[in-house]
Amino acid sequence: MARAAEALRDGELVALPTETVYGLGGKATDDRAVAAIFAAKGRPSFNPLIVHVPGWAEAQQWVVADERAEELAQHFWPGPLTLVLPRRPDSGLSLLVSAGLDSVAIRAPSHPVAQALLKAAGVPVAAPSANRSGAVSPTTPQHVLESLGDRVRMVVAGGKCPVGLESTVLDLTGPEPVLLRPGAVLREEIERLIGPIRVSQEDPAAPKSPGQLASHYAPNAAVRLNADGAGPDEAFLTFGPDRFVPGGLTRLNLSLESDLNEAAANLFAYLRQLDQSGAKSIAVMPIPDEGLGVAINDRLRRAAAPRG
Ligand code: TXA
Ligand code: MG
Repeated sequence: MARAAEALRDGELVALPTETVYGLGGKATDDRAVAAIFAAKGRPSFNPLIVHVPGWAEAQQWVVADERAEELAQHFWPGPLTLVLPRRPDSGLSLLVSAGLDSVAIRAPSHPVAQALLKAAGVPVAAPSANRSGAVSPTTPQHVLESLGDRVRMVVAGGKCPVGLESTVLDLTGPEPVLLRPGAVLREEIERLIGPIRVSQEDPAAPKSPGQLASHYAPNAAVRLNADGAGPDEAFLTFGPDRFVPGGLTRLNLSLESDLNEAAANLFAYLRQLDQSGAKSIAVMPIPDEGLGVAINDRLRRAAAPRG
């Protein structure tokens, strides 16, 4: 932990576990470290990064907060909620973090290893998901090693990510809050605290949050949604009791008990596993579009979107 914290302070890249997915961390006040994150991911420089801090007190050094932000942070931080807020002028954050916008996305992860590392490092850490741009996010240290192992100074191992889907992203830069990315903190939970929020109508050609790029989170195999069976040459991702559903070359069940939390935690690892089975196409059974299912379906739609 001490060596990882020191590497971050020195401007090196360190992959770290969070409760959502593994992040590719770099010192957010260091242009060279932030540029190295974009290079390692092959990420377009117009897609801004999330800054990670231990908690609300530290966040205020970097962003201008309002009552809504404070209320949400008190309720959900540390945890899987990212707030997009106005950048504090002269804060010292690398401008690359914001990709030219005058806002900053910030969150406090709850994973105990992330908490310990952020506190030990004492610097804000920019961290996108630790995968190549457009590919499936990593939920184990092994996933990180597979795609970015040669690009990082070290991977801090912290087991399997308990949530398994990226954080909810909420834009609070305007009078009307906008949900940019659904995640484990649900829209209804946010609305209970701060009132109605708009769900971003994404324009894939001009995404405000480039996680909204239509094709994203994509395995190599094609993805076919709402399948009630799989062809003989398809891999099959099922949900709920599936004994009588026909077909599939290889099949994995996201949750036999129809538990959406379990399904979310398994989703990315199973997509990778089925991808590696060599099937040209992955058929996916319908997932209920409620609770965490909204975020699962969001990621599945992007995985299934036509490739750019
Ligand atoms: O759960 C997570 O959020 C993980 C872990 C590592 O914390 N991180 C993550 O980062 O998913 P990334 O870079 O893969 O996704 C960040 C999302 C992108 O959709 C990005 O476009 C959006 O947040 N974003 C970042 N800064 C923004 C800003 N200033 N305005 C609008 N959207 C922003
Ligand atoms: Mg990502």
